[in-house]
Amino acid sequence: MTTYRIAPSILSADFARLGDEVRSVIDAGADFIHFDVMDNHYVPNLTVGPLVAQAIKPYCKRADGTPVALDVHLMVEPVDALAQMFAKAGADIISFHPEATRHVDRTLQLIRDAGCRAGLVFNPASSLDVLDHVMDKVDLVLIMSVNPGFGGQSFIPEALRKTAMVRQRLDAYRAHSGREVLLEVDGGIKADNIAAVAAAGADTFVAGSAIFGHKDYRAVIDAMRGELARVA
Ligand code: DX5
Ligand code: ZN
Repeated sequence: MTTYRIAPSILSADFARLGDEVRSVIDAGADFIHFDVMDNHYVPNLTVGPLVAQAIKPYCKRADGTPVALDVHLMVEPVDALAQMFAKAGADIISFHPEATRHVDRTLQLIRDAGCRAGLVFNPASSLDVLDHVMDKVDLVLIMSVNPGFGGQSFIPEALRKTAMVRQRLDAYRAHSGREVLLEVDGGIKADNIAAVAAAGADTFVAGSAIFGHKDYRAVIDAMRGELARVA
């Protein structure tokens, strides 16, 4: 049985009440907190930096104290210095776009050296080739199902085919290495398409507007889990 994880993106949360929003969405069943960092350079939008990550870190835990991973998605260029700042700020996972760094292997290594799990993010038009020689340093693959930069966009169906391609690669890799790499999909995910994304092979689902755009976070997360329970 696959363990599915739902990762609400706080991009669509109420930024004036971020701590409460993080707490509410964790109470509602979030598995990860997805933290979108945009720099108005790699993407045409500007969001939050390490200070805000540090401020919400104490909220990233369940009522019983169990930690909830702070899943930082860097849409910034260059990557290395900011990745290290986010590691210090308390990130558990740091993902970056390979186009945004000069030396992908080095960036993966420095994220891991800083004690975090490292992720590679693939835009809708990006090929997966960069994975070939760095798999041993990758803990998570993130497939973008929208072009990065904004919440609330529509899911690009081609992402399903690409997710299935990554699933094959990760299964083959696990067969000889014994190592599990997470497969996360980000953009336009809602209760009515999450099952298709899972069927394509994803195990971790980012959802921003679908969750924070609704009054009852638990109702949305429960609906998503209900859909996931029906995936073979
Ligand atoms: C897009 C971000 C996503 C986005 C998801 O650049 O990486 O995480 O916030 O939001 P929705 O679920 O609204 O597409
Ligand atoms: Zn994201």
